[in-house]
Amino acid sequence: MASIPAFLLVLLPLLLSAAVSAYPDAGFGFQATLTHIDAGAGYTEAQLLSRAVRRSKARVAALQSLATTTAADAITVARILVLASEGEYLMSMGIGTPPRYYSAILDTGSDLIWTQCAPCMLCVDQPTPFFDPAQSPSYAKLPCNSPMCNALYYPLCYRNVCVYQYFYGDSANTAGVLSNETFTFGTNDTRVTVPRIAFGCGNLNAGSLFNGSGMVGFGRGPLSLVSQLGSPRFSYCLTSFMSPVPSRLYFGAYATLNSTSASTGEPVQSTPFIVNPGLPTMYYLNMTGISVGGELLPIDPSVFAINDADGTGGVIIDSGSTITYLARAAYDMVHQAFADQVGLPLTNATSLADVLDTCFVWPPPPRKIVTMPELAFHFEGANMELPLENYMLIDGDTGNLCLAIAASDDGSIIGSFQHQNFHVLYDNENSLLSFTPATCNVM
Ligand SMILES: *[C@@H]1O[C@H](CO)[C@@H](O)[C@H](O)[C@H]1NC(C)=O
Ligand SMILES: *[C@@H]1O[C@H](CO)[C@@H](O)[C@H](O)[C@H]1NC(C)=O
Ligand SMILES: *[C@@H]1O[C@H](CO)[C@@H](O)[C@H](O)[C@H]1NC(C)=O
Ligand SMILES: *[C@@H]1O[C@H](CO)[C@@H](O)[C@H](O)[C@H]1NC(C)=O
Ligand SMILES: *[C@@H]1O[C@H](CO)[C@@H](O)[C@H](O)[C@H]1NC(C)=O
Ligand SMILES: *[C@@H]1O[C@H](CO)[C@@H](O)[C@H](O)[C@H]1NC(C)=O
Repeated sequence: MASIPAFLLVLLPLLLSAAVSAYPDAGFGFQATLTHIDAGAGYTEAQLLSRAVRRSKARVAALQSLATTTAADAITVARILVLASEGEYLMSMGIGTPPRYYSAILDTGSDLIWTQCAPCMLCVDQPTPFFDPAQSPSYAKLPCNSPMCNALYYPLCYRNVCVYQYFYGDSANTAGVLSNETFTFGTNDTRVTVPRIAFGCGNLNAGSLFNGSGMVGFGRGPLSLVSQLGSPRFSYCLTSFMSPVPSRLYFGAYATLNSTSASTGEPVQSTPFIVNPGLPTMYYLNMTGISVGGELLPIDPSVFAINDADGTGGVIIDSGSTITYLARAAYDMVHQAFADQVGLPLTNATSLADVLDTCFVWPPPPRKIVTMPELAFHFEGANMELPLENYMLIDGDTGNLCLAIAASDDGSIIGSFQHQNFHVLYDNENSLLSFTPATCNVM
């Protein structure tokens, strides 16, 4: 095999980035940086993990309380759609003319794009000044008969202005005027400016934005950024949870697993999205099984199915949950398989015991070498073989080793901890999720 001259190795990143910059020929798109919400706050690794695990618990609790109420009335549907109040990643975007830059929580579980607006009747602290529509000539309020107003789950009409109201869980919410505005996206070399994006200008907001200044919905409904940009594909590559290197988002023409310079060369896996008519915004997957240590567990496929009668159950992939939650019947089998295959005693002595209960005494007794069983998630047409760092974590307080998966009393959620160092493509045109292992910190 011919070796690559050293100077070419130095040049390679430049050549690759030049190739990527040429991409807009293929159509509209941009690249953006995703910052973890706890980045730069000086947390220890143990604190980062524990904060993320607690946020996941809050998110799944909201999911469950909402999913068990009937989805018949509009307020309940609106609540369910936006239960995703606590995301994990922030994306920067410019709003208005000239653009003012804000970091918004990226959320694949909801649709609306919104930020807090002046004048504020009730607002939450945010790191940047509130957006002031009076300072932006490209701002326009939407009338009640506009198609975007009709796409809201709970539209209100006040003096022919479309008023939106979104609920996040039981108490937090945002309400304000549904408006058109010019948005600017992307890193400096891929910057795009798009006029007339419908967004919520929130004058009445409550809850925590976790150092963001609003949210940007990446769901499947008409109000989401993905749908409004008319280029319904995006991909992300999440760096290691503990890595200080930010993650990457690719949109439109840039969202292709082929352009990944960090690809490990493993084949791309693809699986179709399925639609839950009760929650059409969310990205449901057809999960077919789980293997531990190379053995397919005897999980009845109905454990992962959407309940046609009320829309509960099913499996979603979610950027806003950290750890994975599995329907209890599946979780119990995974727990038992780990208990059987890991040659270490189980323990409940961890600081995360109320969430994670497949934990082992660590470090093992002297001179004992322990091999962890491999873990793979199976979807229709695709296998996700997880690297060890995507499913085992070390509890910061006790040093014990825990499986980063918890039990759910309703549906299952594939969380972002499980797709670290995967490049994941959401292709809404073909209704397909594709993924491949990637070294995300060198993209
Ligand atoms: C916001 O960021 C500051 C400094 O980075 C940090 O101290 C604070 O805890 C953060 N707040 C939230 C709600 O995450
Ligand atoms: C992008 O451009 C702005 C203004 O020209 C500059 O301040 C900033 O450092 C640039 N960012 C990067 C990542 O190059
Ligand atoms: C808002 O944007 C949409 C989509 O471009 C456009 O059809 C509509 O006329 C705009 N409405 C206002 C009031 O600017
Ligand atoms: C990769 O490129 C090939 C050929 O250009 C194309 O057919 C395929 O759809 C691409 N795959 C992805 C995931 O973008
Ligand atoms: C851990 O707690 C659970 C639930 O309380 C209990 O069923 C289990 O036996 C405990 N395991 C250990 C190893 O103490
Ligand atoms: C899920 O995949 C299995 C196996 O390919 C298939 O039999 C089943 O019909 C699929 N379910 C849905 C809801 O698409």
